[in-house]
Amino acid sequence: MQFDLCGADAERAYQLLASLVCPRPIAWVTTLNEDGSVNAAPFSFFNVLGDDPPMVMFCPGNREDGSPKDTARNCQRSGEFVINLVDEALGQLMVHTSASLPYAVSETEKEGIALSPGSTIAVPIITNAPAALECVVHDIREIGNNRLIIGLVHRIHVRDELVDSAQKRIRTDLYHPVGRMAVPDWYCRTSDQYAIPRPR
Ligand SMILES: Cc1cc2nc3c(=O)[nH]c(=O)nc-3n(C[C@H](O)[C@H](O)[C@H](O)COP(=O)(O)O)c2cc1C
Repeated sequence: MQFDLCGADAERAYQLLASLVCPRPIAWVTTLNEDGSVNAAPFSFFNVLGDDPPMVMFCPGNREDGSPKDTARNCQRSGEFVINLVDEALGQLMVHTSASLPYAVSETEKEGIALSPGSTIAVPIITNAPAALECVVHDIREIGNNRLIIGLVHRIHVRDELVDSAQKRIRTDLYHPVGRMAVPDWYCRTSDQYAIPRPR
């Protein structure tokens, strides 16, 4: 079966793509509202793009009236954001913060989410996140109703027990972020991993 996203099936694009291109990592993004309160929202149109320079992107869609989501608005104004990564213990709380609240109503205050100061930027990290990336906006591209936000990663925080400190490597046997699966509400665990050695 084929779907014509340039024609008859255009309205199915989100459901089809979000259900096929998965699992996706989840960026739980913190930003500063204009009054200094902290906004938090999840985005699964998200990935790391490269390491030289260390680069990530995520992509908020616009609201139905064409206005930017609060996260995009804050990134545009302040030029900074934090990507907090999400494990199973944080899943429920992360989903709660996807509720659409009026601007400057802080999801972190509403949900009682503990925050710790960023090291290189003014935006705080979510204390209980297994890892967090402090990012500076490199570029924001408006493509139709999408706002593609590209950030450079300046600092990485990782929960101590997830790092082999002698080797400065992540303990992938202990780090299990959740993956985003089909819409509306499906996720996967990443605790069942296996290796496929590359040819040398
Ligand atoms: C797991 C998950 C992933 C999401 N991914 C996206 C996404 O990639 N793009 C998007 O526009 N909205 C996404 N959303 C919806 C936003 O989180 C939601 O619109 C939120 O209210 C935006 O908040 P803000 O206005 O504070 O930025 C996602 C929601 C969930 C639960």
